Amino acid sequence: MLPLQQLSVGMLAGVMALVLFSTVDAQHGSWGYTGDTGPTTWANNFPSWCNGQKQSPIDVQSKSATQKSFPALTFKGFDTPPADAQMRIKNNGHAIQVDLLSKTGKSDNYQISGGGLPGTYNVLQFHFHWGSEHTVNGKRYDAEMHVVTWNAKYPSASAASTVTPDGFAVMSVLLEIHMVTWNTKYRDVYEARDNKDGLAALSVPIAATSKTANPGMQNIVSQLSNVANKGMNYTYPTSFSVNSLFPADKANYWRYMGSLTTPKCNEVVVWTIFKTSLKISQDQINALKSSCYFNPAGDQEQQSLNNNYRPTQPLNGRTVFDSSSTSGVPQLAPTVLALLIAVISSTALQL
Ligand SMILES: *[C@@H]1O[C@H](CO)[C@@H](O)[C@H](O)[C@H]1NC(C)=O
Repeated sequence: MLPLQQLSVGMLAGVMALVLFSTVDAQHGSWGYTGDTGPTTWANNFPSWCNGQKQSPIDVQSKSATQKSFPALTFKGFDTPPADAQMRIKNNGHAIQVDLLSKTGKSDNYQISGGGLPGTYNVLQFHFHWGSEHTVNGKRYDAEMHVVTWNAKYPSASAASTVTPDGFAVMSVLLEIHMVTWNTKYRDVYEARDNKDGLAALSVPIAATSKTANPGMQNIVSQLSNVANKGMNYTYPTSFSVNSLFPADKANYWRYMGSLTTPKCNEVVVWTIFKTSLKISQDQINALKSSCYFNPAGDQEQQSLNNNYRPTQPLNGRTVFDSSSTSGVPQLAPTVLALLIAVISSTALQL
């Protein structure tokens, strides 16, 4: 995973565990998208957050959104891959994910800032759900891409230095980043709703209505056979442009405060959902739907990884902001602990 020497290992582990790998927190049970571990069981099995009042995803009602002006979002490393960038695609049993690594131990190769976010955020990875998790005016897209980032200031924050390994079960998932974990103290930091250091979340909706294969998406689709089963991974010989998986228009988006969409569903996420969708082809979405399994290779009964999305959650009075306004200065609630970018793709819909 990320080069640990130059990071607060505990911080990174906490981020990874919280955002990416809470799925494998064996101490708290497994979860999935079907059967007796499906989303309807999460609130009971992960009551610390999954039964909360600020959950994600949501259905965005565009007419009900509050207009608000935000500064421009800034993306670093997205157009041309940084010189020492290394990309690895993998099947984590819940989604297909691409880790953004560095051959030389950098953590700031890919960054996002601006957009009203309280800081600069390093990008960890992006992954796909199919169909989409967020819906717009009741419509579900064919797929959604989440880009997960973390506040670049956080590793140097005093809170990070307090993190020590505690044998939490999530360690087993974090072997690739040298088996670091977060401890209970660290989780306190996450739960500090006034702490503006940490992670934040952006969500970028992408729609797939293209007759031809999207070149960016093809970087994913072309490697699906290498990550068919849970645990499989493949390192790209050459990194590709992350921007190739984004819509051209990244200036218009919806913004709301929500949660991780997987257990433990921590309500620490600022979502930014881009309005313009990424257009991919039917063949490409079909490949996602038909090529991936959520059990390990060798399992006798292969189970297709599909519909790996959480149903939309009640808004419960939260405000959804519409960035396309003409005035006002954005003030993010300082609860930003995770930055995700969601890209919704659809073969049938277009924002
Ligand atoms: C990638 O796959 C190899 C070979 O199966 C495995 O040993 C390794 O642990 C995997 N790495 C990750 C990060 O999943």
